[in-house]
Amino acid sequence: MIGLKMIKFQKIKAKNFLSYKDLDFEIPESGLFFVKGDNGAGKSGIFEALCFGLYGKTIRGDSGDAVVRNGRKKGESCSVKINLSVDAVEIEITRKRFPNSVELTINDEDVSLPTMVATQEKIDTVLGMTFDVFTNSVIFGQGLPFRFSQATDSERKKILDRILQFEWLHDARASALAVKQAIERTHIPEFETKLNVERAVGVTIDERIHSGQTELTSVKDQLKAKIEKKKEVDVLKASLVKTQQKLANILHGKETERAELQDAEVRRTELLDKLSDCNLKKMKTQNLIGFVFHEIQEFEAKKRAVEKLDGGECPTCLQMVGEKHIVSVGGKLDGQIQEKKVAYEEYSKVLKSRVKAVEEAELQLTLKRDEISILNARINEARVAGGRLEFEITEINEKLQSQEYGTDSIAYLEQRIEVLQKNITKMAEDRSASNKLIADTASKLAKANKKIERYDFWVTGFGNTGIKSMVLKNVMPVLNESAKAYADFLTNGELSVVFKAETEAKTGNVIDKLDVVVEKKGAGGTYSLCSGGEKRRADIIVLLSMYDLISRRSFMKVNILIFDEVFEALDSVGIENTVSLLEHFGVEKAVYVIEHRDDMDSFFENVIKVTNSSGGSKISISQ
Ligand SMILES: Nc1ncnc2c1ncn2[C@@H]1O[C@H](COP(=O)(O)OP(=O)(O)O)[C@@H](O)[C@H]1O
Ligand SMILES: [Mg+2]
Repeated sequence: MIGLKMIKFQKIKAKNFLSYKDLDFEIPESGLFFVKGDNGAGKSGIFEALCFGLYGKTIRGDSGDAVVRNGRKKGESCSVKINLSVDAVEIEITRKRFPNSVELTINDEDVSLPTMVATQEKIDTVLGMTFDVFTNSVIFGQGLPFRFSQATDSERKKILDRILQFEWLHDARASALAVKQAIERTHIPEFETKLNVERAVGVTIDERIHSGQTELTSVKDQLKAKIEKKKEVDVLKASLVKTQQKLANILHGKETERAELQDAEVRRTELLDKLSDCNLKKMKTQNLIGFVFHEIQEFEAKKRAVEKLDGGECPTCLQMVGEKHIVSVGGKLDGQIQEKKVAYEEYSKVLKSRVKAVEEAELQLTLKRDEISILNARINEARVAGGRLEFEITEINEKLQSQEYGTDSIAYLEQRIEVLQKNITKMAEDRSASNKLIADTASKLAKANKKIERYDFWVTGFGNTGIKSMVLKNVMPVLNESAKAYADFLTNGELSVVFKAETEAKTGNVIDKLDVVVEKKGAGGTYSLCSGGEKRRADIIVLLSMYDLISRRSFMKVNILIFDEVFEALDSVGIENTVSLLEHFGVEKAVYVIEHRDDMDSFFENVIKVTNSSGGSKISISQ
C-alpha cells in the first residue's frame, strides 16, 4: 500500500494507573504471547495503559480520576508513558494526572502544544489513527462486541460501520439531511410565503393599474365631451357677443330715431304754429278783402244813392244836391271805389299768397306727420327687434350658464389626467420592480429546490442504500474470501461462514440486511445448532475476517494485536488451530492473547503472568 505507515509500540510505563503501582512493559517487534492471570489480575490493565497513554481514555471509556490507582500514596501522581516509533521517528507520549498534562516529544524534542486538546490532535495526526480506529483494529475483545454472528442487523451494521470507517458517512448524511431539512423547513416556506406575498402585491398593483387606466379612459372621455361642449359654449359666446352688438346697434338706432322724433315733434309744433299763423294771416286778409268789398259796396251804394238823389237833399251834409254836386260827389266816390277796388285787388293777391302759404304749411305739416309716424313705426320696430334680441340674449345666457357649468372643470380634468398618467407610470415601475422581486424569489425558490434535490441525493448517497451498500457489496467477497480461508484453517472446512449484504425477504423483495450465515457441513445445520465451541470458532472466523478487512483498509501497519478474552469458549481443537493461525500473525507483530483460563499455557511459547496483590498488579514473564 502506498504511504503505509509502520507504527511500532515499544514500551508502556505506568505509575499508579488502575491496578498498577508500577508498570514497565516492553513490546517486542514480533511474537505470540499468552497473558494469563485471574479475573481482576490486571491483564487488560496493561493495554488500557497503552490506550490511555495514546488517547487519554481507556478502551472501556474511562478517563480522568477513574484511572488513578486507588490506594496510591498521598502526593504520588499517576502517569503513563508510551514509547513508539512511526517509521523512523521516535515518539514519546507522557500523560499525567495531578497535575493533568500531556506531553509529546518527537525525536526527543518537546513538541507539546499549549492546550491538551491541541496536543492530542497532534498526537492523533502523528499516529495517523484515532481512538476509534485503534480500539477497532488493534484490540479485540472486551472493548468490542465481537459476537458478530449473534448481533442484530443494526448492531452488525454499527460494527461494520466502525470497521469500514463508515461513521463519517453517518455524520455526512446527518449534516446533508440537516441542511436539506433546514432548507425545507425555513427557506422553502420563507421563499414560498415571500413569493405569495410578492405575487399578491403584483396582483394588487395590476388591479390598481387597471383601475387607474379605467379612470384615465373615463376622465379622457369626460375631457373630450367637455372640450366639445366648450366649443359649443364658444359658439354661443360668439353669438351672444354678436347678438349683444346687434341689440346695442338697435338701441343706438332707436336713440337716434327718438332724437329725430323729438326734433320732428318740435318741428311739427312749429309747423302747426306756422299753419295757424298763416291761417290767421289768411283770415285777416280775407277779412280785409271782405271789409274792402263791403266798403266798395258801400261806396257803390252811396253813389247809387247820390245818383238817385238828383236834386234832393244830401243825407250826409243835408244840403241840396245839385247835378254838379252829384257829379263831384259821384266822381269822388268813383275814385274811392276805384281806390278800394285796387286795394281789393291787392288784398286778393295777398290772400292768394296767404292761401298758398297755408297750403304750403299744411303740406309741410303732413310731411312731418308722415315722417313722425314713420319714425314712430321705426322706433316701434326697433323696440320689437330689441325685445326679440333681448330674449335671444337671455336664451343664450341661459344656455351658456347650463353649458359653462360643465366646462369649468376642463383644467381640473387635464390636471387629473396628468396625475393619473404619472400614477400609472409609477405603478408600472412598481410592477416591474415587483416582477423582478418575484423572479428573484422564484429563482431563489428554484435554487433552494435544486439544493434540496442535491442534498437529497447525498442523503441517499450517504445513507444505507448509497455508498454504504455499494461498498458493502464490494466488501462482501473480500470478507467471504477471508472467512473461507479461516474456516478451512480453524475447522477443517467443517463450518462455513458467509457474509451477506442483502437478504431476500419473505415477500421476495431483496432488502438491505447484513447477515452472517453459519452452516455446519453435512448437518445442514445453522448457527443455532452448533456447539458452544463451534459457535466460538464461527465468531473467531468472523472476527479474523473482519480484522483482515481492517488491515486492508488501514493506512497503518501496527506491530501489535491484542485478543482480550476472545478464545474463552474454545475447545482444545479450536485452541490448537487458532494458536497455529495466530503464530502466523506473530511472525510480523507482537500478538497478545489474554485469557484467564489456566489450561492454555501449553499452546504458547511465551507466557506473561499477571497477579494482583496488595502492592498492585505485577507481571512476570516466563519463556
Ligand atoms: N483506579 C483503580 N485503582 C485500583 N484498582 C483498580 C482501579 N480500577 C480498576 N481497578 C482494579 O484493577 C483490577 C484489574 O483489572 P483488569 O485489568 O481489568 O483485570 P483483568 O483484565 O486481569 O481481569 C480489578 O480488580 C479492578 O477492580
Ligand atoms: Mg480483562
